Amino acid sequence: MKIALGVGGGIAAYKAAEIARALMERGAAVEVILTAAAEEFVRPLTFAALTSRKVITSLFASSSAEDVLSSSVEHIRVAQENDVLLVAPATADLMAKFAHGLADDFLSTLYLAFTGRVILAPAMNTNMWNHPATQANVATLAARGHVILPPDSGPLACGTVGPGRLPDPVRIAEATIDLANRRRDLEGETILITAGPTQEPIDPVRFISNRSSGKMGYALAAAAAARGARVILISGPVELDPPYGVELVRVVTALEMHEAVMKHLAESTIIVKAAAVADYHIAKPPLQKIKKTMARMSLELDPTPDILAEVGRKKGDRLLIGFAAETSNLVEEGRRKLETKNCDMVVANLINLEGTGFGAEENEVTLVMRTGEVAPLARLSKREVANLIFDHALKLRLALHATQ
Ligand code: PMT
Repeated sequence: MKIALGVGGGIAAYKAAEIARALMERGAAVEVILTAAAEEFVRPLTFAALTSRKVITSLFASSSAEDVLSSSVEHIRVAQENDVLLVAPATADLMAKFAHGLADDFLSTLYLAFTGRVILAPAMNTNMWNHPATQANVATLAARGHVILPPDSGPLACGTVGPGRLPDPVRIAEATIDLANRRRDLEGETILITAGPTQEPIDPVRFISNRSSGKMGYALAAAAAARGARVILISGPVELDPPYGVELVRVVTALEMHEAVMKHLAESTIIVKAAAVADYHIAKPPLQKIKKTMARMSLELDPTPDILAEVGRKKGDRLLIGFAAETSNLVEEGRRKLETKNCDMVVANLINLEGTGFGAEENEVTLVMRTGEVAPLARLSKREVANLIFDHALKLRLALHATQ
């Protein structure tokens, strides 16, 4: 996959080097274009060393007639050879040029000549971002079908606090790779995904929870959104940024997750329950902090609602995918949950393997399906596991419909 990376002139330009590296680590060939303003912040040599390619800095690279001729069609070559044009940071000036079709340097000329997918990561001062002129240009570019990665909020180099920060380079790289790979085979689906742990209060200070980081559920949400689905992500407390384009519903307890799932069930076509929900809670936690007065103490716990089982009873012809976190008998436990919870697929993972499951970047799962098929998957990144789950889910739905 080939990515043209246009770098605008802003303080965040230095982060474009990390973006280039993250893209290359994910298998992309990267060709970098620096605007004249970007060159004030970063040197072409940095990008040339990272990408092992010449960096483009000017529409007219040389003054000889022959060179001018060849370099003036260079923007056509770059437009034709690359699958995606990523501009990061996209400055207010660059977006204004793109929105109005101005072409007075290499990047703006490339933009007009480029017919592939465009992704823009704006970064600028908060007032500049909020200005009606910038917002109107962003709306114009979004209406053209370009992907706009909204800036993060936080303290900016100019001293203000608010929206304007370039998002994390790895997130930008992943969104760009998604765009380049985009399969739109989940378009028309509304996929409800649960992720992360729940926290069950013991008193106002303490809670019972588990080691789920939310990475598996968030990877599912990102993969589904990249493949065109509307995604409703119901998430317990995690330290992750929500993937672009998903509708995030934050919850804390199992009861809140239950309520949110039931609220959105009717509009969903596929439900994926990756969350690690507490099975027990204190039904009425005390309002005051429990004091350390007893030599021993015990907590009385009541069961939480089994959300998966209830969805299984109410799902109709929706596709229901449950997870099973097990320490042994993976396939047997997967089959048992498939039957007792009326799932169509159970994603069973052994959670006592080093480097997979809770908190890890990778997962090693076995898919147990209603058709009787059992598909053990290799150890893969959670994102790759997520894509394979959806690949199997689409095939499974066809197979289930064929047998009805
Ligand atoms: O979040 P990560 O750090 O990335 O880790 C990923 C993971 C290990 C949490 C994930 O891959 C996983 O296995 N999720 C399910 C964890 C779990 O709670 O498994 P379980 O076997 O206890 O529950 C079985 C299923 O019932 C799950 O789909 C769960 O969401 C659901 N459930 C459980 C209890 C409950 N009260 N309601 C439910 O719906």
